[in-house]
Amino acid sequence: MTQQTETSQRPVLVVDFGAQYAQLIARRVREAGVYSEIVPHTATAAEIAAKSPVGIILSGGPSSVYEEGAPQLDTGVLELGVPTLGICYGFQVMAQQLGGEVAHTGLREYGATDAAVTGDGGVLLGGQPAEQNVWMSHGDQVSRAPEGFEVLASTSATRVAAFASDERRLYGVQWHPEVKHTDYGQNVLENFLHKAAGLPADWNSGNVIAEQVERIRAQIGSGRVISALSGGVDSAVSTALVHKAVGDQLTAIFVDHGLLRKGEREQVEQDYVASTGVRLITIDARERFLTALAGVSDPEQKRKIIGREFIRTFEEAEKALIAEAEADGEPIRFLVQGTLYPDVVESGGGAGTANIKSHHNVGGLPEDLQFELVEPLRTLFKDEVRAIGRELGLPEAIVGRQPFPGPGLGIRIVGEVTADRLEILRDADAIAREELTRAGLDNEIWQCPVVLLADVRSVGVQGDGRTYGHPIVLRPVSSEDAMTADWTRLPYDVLSRISNRITNEVREVNRVVLDVTSKPPGTIEWE
Ligand code: XMP
Repeated sequence: MTQQTETSQRPVLVVDFGAQYAQLIARRVREAGVYSEIVPHTATAAEIAAKSPVGIILSGGPSSVYEEGAPQLDTGVLELGVPTLGICYGFQVMAQQLGGEVAHTGLREYGATDAAVTGDGGVLLGGQPAEQNVWMSHGDQVSRAPEGFEVLASTSATRVAAFASDERRLYGVQWHPEVKHTDYGQNVLENFLHKAAGLPADWNSGNVIAEQVERIRAQIGSGRVISALSGGVDSAVSTALVHKAVGDQLTAIFVDHGLLRKGEREQVEQDYVASTGVRLITIDARERFLTALAGVSDPEQKRKIIGREFIRTFEEAEKALIAEAEADGEPIRFLVQGTLYPDVVESGGGAGTANIKSHHNVGGLPEDLQFELVEPLRTLFKDEVRAIGRELGLPEAIVGRQPFPGPGLGIRIVGEVTADRLEILRDADAIAREELTRAGLDNEIWQCPVVLLADVRSVGVQGDGRTYGHPIVLRPVSSEDAMTADWTRLPYDVLSRISNRITNEVREVNRVVLDVTSKPPGTIEWE
């Protein structure tokens, strides 16, 4: 498999010191209209220079600069003459390397902190209020700025909370400008990017589309390409981009495994096709999956079966297509994959990481396929993929869709998966989604799995009679990345409407319960 090169834009490089903040910083930089990429802190000055960065941001990190084995920065990086901003740990590394002083005072600052801007705040904090609320998370502190640096802010615990040397184009803040709790955080980043580094805000979804279309054309030429649509946003957008680039050289395959939510097949077959013109083949594999899942309650086994059947179904469809293409004299050489930038970063980053998503697709695609991957979303974050999808005119139901696991409703039925139970769950799920959307809550929740406890029954009373039905669980969660999550405090009246409608409209269900567990300890899905 070969790799596409990334983009022609010169990046702002975010040097990752091992905190979860590097990706967030890169996203914020892009929100400011400037392209950014992440590099590990082990990158040498030469490696960094080779990427021709137009700016560098040193991220925060969990370490103390005094700790043994604390992540280091190649001392050449600050000599490159590239405008550089140090954040938190990166700020301290910068101070230390440039001859300032970092003290281990035992004074810690965590969370919301008042910062006072010194003087006019310089290019970084200029125009901001003299007193502001910032988000801190550090033990050590910069006790003396390096020579030639101007102190721009302080807090009650930290005399040097921000500094700058306009001459050397080096800047730093002790707090986290990338988190929303810092009042003027985005403004600090924008001042660094646009004023200190002089970068225009010219990175947007329109440019990305134009650039990717060109790259896809260069990669595929007159070749044939296939794509698997899942109904999710990544495969929908990557497929649409490839279609925009090469038209009917692309065939998309959509497997209906019967574990989809209400209306999803129609969304893909009708709305998606209407908005893109993609040539689509739907494989109706509902019976096949139900048969394979009959009698199985164990969640891991269910996952395995679904993954296996998906691969087989896909392979069969693919063989037929390959045969057709070969008879045509133009074999299929390419496969579209909706890999996103976080996958690239997490699997070691950058060029050369051929990354087939196995966990987060339905079982992944077969590894022995001899296709060259086309991955037009490799440089993008999820919110950017959504913006591109909207720009391409894809249906909002697909572009705005919450994360939905590859194995679909199959892992939202606790117990055996049957056609009847799928029907019940689909109806309950559709009601919950409809009411959440109607209440305008889609942007507040990360996702809301609706789960059928098929192996549980409890007594209820409905109409004149006693019932012995199943509970439905609502699992609304708020999250940034699904690694951790909190349960969303939905308004009682919305919960009440969902509950009333589900118990009234969905047969066999006589109770609706709310999951009030964070992650950890609970996962988002029940399985
Ligand atoms: P958990 O349940 O582990 O889920 O807290 C974390 C996130 O991953 C999604 N998820 C999956 N996505 N294939 C997927 O594409 C899967 O097999 C799968 N299992 C869980 C889940 O919906 C949540 O967003």
